[in-house]
Amino acid sequence: MTGRAAVIAGIGSWVPPRVVTNEDLSRQFDTDDEWIRTRTGIATRHFVEPGAATSDLAVEAGSRALKSAGGQPPGALVLATTTPDRPCPGTAPEVATRLGLDHIAAFDVSAVCTGFLYGLATGAGLIASGQTDRVLVIAAEAFSTILSPTDRTTSVIFGDGAGAVVLRAGDPDEPGALKAVDLGSDGSGVDLITVRAGGSRQRSTGLPPAVEDTYFTMDGHPVFMQAVLRMAASSRTVLQRVGWGVGDVDRLVGHQANLRILHAVADQLKLPREKAVVNLDRVANTAGASIPLALADAAADGFLRPGQRVLMTAFGGGLTWGSAAVEWPALDLV
Ligand code: COA
Repeated sequence: MTGRAAVIAGIGSWVPPRVVTNEDLSRQFDTDDEWIRTRTGIATRHFVEPGAATSDLAVEAGSRALKSAGGQPPGALVLATTTPDRPCPGTAPEVATRLGLDHIAAFDVSAVCTGFLYGLATGAGLIASGQTDRVLVIAAEAFSTILSPTDRTTSVIFGDGAGAVVLRAGDPDEPGALKAVDLGSDGSGVDLITVRAGGSRQRSTGLPPAVEDTYFTMDGHPVFMQAVLRMAASSRTVLQRVGWGVGDVDRLVGHQANLRILHAVADQLKLPREKAVVNLDRVANTAGASIPLALADAAADGFLRPGQRVLMTAFGGGLTWGSAAVEWPALDLV
């Protein structure tokens, strides 16, 4: 990227305290720890308590990212989420107000599991255009609130959580600068990952929704195949744009969809699997929040260190996908 760059200046994350194990889910569904671990790599996930909402998670992650970045107020807040507190209005303005950021630009981005990377690109665009010098990008999901109590497959995969970064205006060559971003979509796959009811298509019928249509559904097999292909292709695009070879990548921070998907993406790129950041065993697939949560966890446990070259890649409903490259900066972790 040329001109005014967007530089990662702070990071924060949050998961709700309630831990749900595979054993807990096997009491509710016809499933077991062995199937979940071997087919997905997931051991535990966090779910919000009854009455909680996405904004609660977003405020926690956002306040930590602001503190990590030194506390200066941003001029804009971008919130990526699949599970807004309400269909209308967006959740971002309430999050901004609760963070004490009254009257800043604040809006939601909807790109499901690619949400963070779309939010990051949007934040970088606000900086590049001179709209503001500082943007808080949050991805937060209370995904458990849209899981069907009768669908064992989706119910074991997803978890709740939030991650956030502060972007500031800076130099393209400094650590933390977003070096390249690739985004894409394919609406012909709209039905592969969806909540059918609640939007204008269903509401215009004037009929009440079927209960099962109010929940998240996913066609696992084609999603699996598409996820691997799209993340690998988008990663290659970003590597080409930034001028890195595969051997230059120190850490692959892929969307934490499924351990088998992460490994397949690494294999396709011919990147050693050991370079992949993995935290889905503890937090499962937190949709849009998964990349910033993985970044924050890896930075906290020392697997992700300043100076390392990081390739981020994600795939999600829409269909949407994206990738980004950054040299990891030295950050205050709070
Ligand atoms: N516990 C036990 N058995 C389960 C189960 C569960 N929670 N969920 C599904 N099964 C069963 C299926 O019913 C099927 O049984 P059958 O053979 O008798 O019909 C069997 O396990 C195999 O199902 P299959 O769909 O082939 O499993 P899979 O290995 O493809 O794994 C997913 C299923 C969903 C884990 C996998 O397809 C996947 O990860 N897809 C992508 C998900 C994703 O990343 N989504 C987010 C992208 S943004």
